[in-house]
Amino acid sequence: MDRLVVKGGQSLRGEVQVSGAKNSALKLIFASLLAEGEHVFRNVPALKDVESACLLIQSLGCETHFQNGTLRIKVPQITNYEASYDLVRKMRASILCLGPLLSKYGFAQVSLPGGCAIGTRPIDLHIAAMKALGAQIEIKDGYVVARAKKLKGSNFLFETSTVGGTENMLMAAALADGVTTLENAAKEPEIIDLVNYLKMMGARISGEGTSVIQVTGIDRLKPAEFTVMPDRIEAGTLLIAGAITKSEIHVSCLEPGHLETVLTKLKDCGFSFHVEKNAITILQNKSAEFVWNAVDVTTQPYPLFPTDLQAQFMALMTLAEGTSVITETVFENRFMHVQELIRLGADISPKTRVAVIRGKKILNGAPVMATDLRASASLVLAGLAAQGETIINRIYHLDRGYEKFEKKLSMLGAHVVRTSGSD
Ligand code: UD1
Repeated sequence: MDRLVVKGGQSLRGEVQVSGAKNSALKLIFASLLAEGEHVFRNVPALKDVESACLLIQSLGCETHFQNGTLRIKVPQITNYEASYDLVRKMRASILCLGPLLSKYGFAQVSLPGGCAIGTRPIDLHIAAMKALGAQIEIKDGYVVARAKKLKGSNFLFETSTVGGTENMLMAAALADGVTTLENAAKEPEIIDLVNYLKMMGARISGEGTSVIQVTGIDRLKPAEFTVMPDRIEAGTLLIAGAITKSEIHVSCLEPGHLETVLTKLKDCGFSFHVEKNAITILQNKSAEFVWNAVDVTTQPYPLFPTDLQAQFMALMTLAEGTSVITETVFENRFMHVQELIRLGADISPKTRVAVIRGKKILNGAPVMATDLRASASLVLAGLAAQGETIINRIYHLDRGYEKFEKKLSMLGAHVVRTSGSD
C-alpha cells in the first residue's frame, strides 16, 4: 500500500490550482441516470471515488469516457437497476443512484452502504424521503428494494440537515408527478451545483441554497454539458497548508464565497489574505516570531464551519498559541486523527464530540496511520510543519478525495514523496 513521506519544515511558495469538487462530481454522475443520451461534465477531478461512481453506472449499462478532466457518460435505456454490495461498499455516495433509478424506471435495488470510519451514517432520511414520494420500500438481504409506478410530489421535512438525503430527493422529485417541497433542505454549494445541472436538463426547481426547495416534476429530462464547481474543501486544505507552514501561497480556481466561515476563523487566528474573484492568497506574516492564535471551532452544516475541514483545522491548532476547543456536531466519530496527531507530539484531550487542543511549540515527525479521507489530509498538513520525517500509511484514503495532492504540494516546494510500503 502506498504511503507518503513528508519532510517537515519547508516553507511553501507559488500558485496552486484547486480541482473540481468531488462532492459535486459524484452526484452529477448519478444525476445522468435521469436522462438517456450523452452527458458531458468538465472540471471533473481524477479521483478514486469518481472511478467508483463510474464503475457503478457502468454496471447499470452506461458507458463512460474520462480524459483531461472531461467525463462523457452515455446513458442507454437502463435495464439493470441493481447497485451491488461490492460497488456500494467502496463509496457510500453510491446510495445516490436510488432516487434517479426509482423515479425514472420505477424500481431500484441498492445495497445498504453500512457504517464507515466517521460514524454510523444511516440512510433513514433518504428512505423516508422516497416513501414520502410514494415509493414502497423494503430492506431485503442487505439491499434497499424500492418500487413505485410513478412517484408523486409531496411536502417533506428533513429531521436533520442531510446533503445526500436532499440530493436523492431532488433527483427523484425532478421526474415525479406534481410539486415536491423539501423543508430543512441542505444548503451546501454542491446542492446548488446539482440543481444547476438538473435545470440544464430541463428540471423545474426553485429555492436551492435556502432551506426550502420546490421541485415541479416534469415528464422527461435531456442530457446537457456542465462544468463542475471548484472543490471548496481542497481549497480550504491548501490554505491551511499555507497557514501551518507560515507561507505565502496563491490558491486559484476557487470560489471565495464558499469559504467565508473558514476565512473568518483563519483571520481570527491572525492570518491575512488577499481575496480576488477566483483566487485567495494567504499572506506571509513578516515577523519571524509569529505564532497564530488558538481559535475555537464548531462544525455545522453550510454556511457554518464544514466538518470536512475539522481535522485539518485541528492540525493547525496543535501549533497555536493557547488552547482551543473543537466541537464536531455533524458526525459522531470524527476524531480518529487525534491519536495520530498525538503521535507527532500534539497535546489533545478528546471526548466524544469535543476535543481540547493545547498548542505546542513544535511537532516531531513519526509514522502515522491515515484513517479516513480528511484525517489523511490533516496528517499531511501536520507533517509539513513537524520537525523531521512523517510517514503517513494507508494513503489510499487521500486518493479518494484529493487530486494529485502530493504533486501540488511538491510544486509549492514541500518535500512530499509517495512510496510503496508493505502495510
Ligand atoms: C456529505 C459529504 C461529506 C460531508 C457531509 C456533511 C458527499 C459525497 N459527502 O456526506 O463529505 O462530510 O455531507 O457535510 O457529498 N444522517 C442521518 N440519516 C440520513 C442521512 C444522514 O441521520 O438518512 C446524518 C449523518 O449520519 C450525519 C448527518 O446526518 O450525522 C449529515 O450527513 P449528510 O449531510 O447526509 O452527509 P453525506 O451526504 O453522507
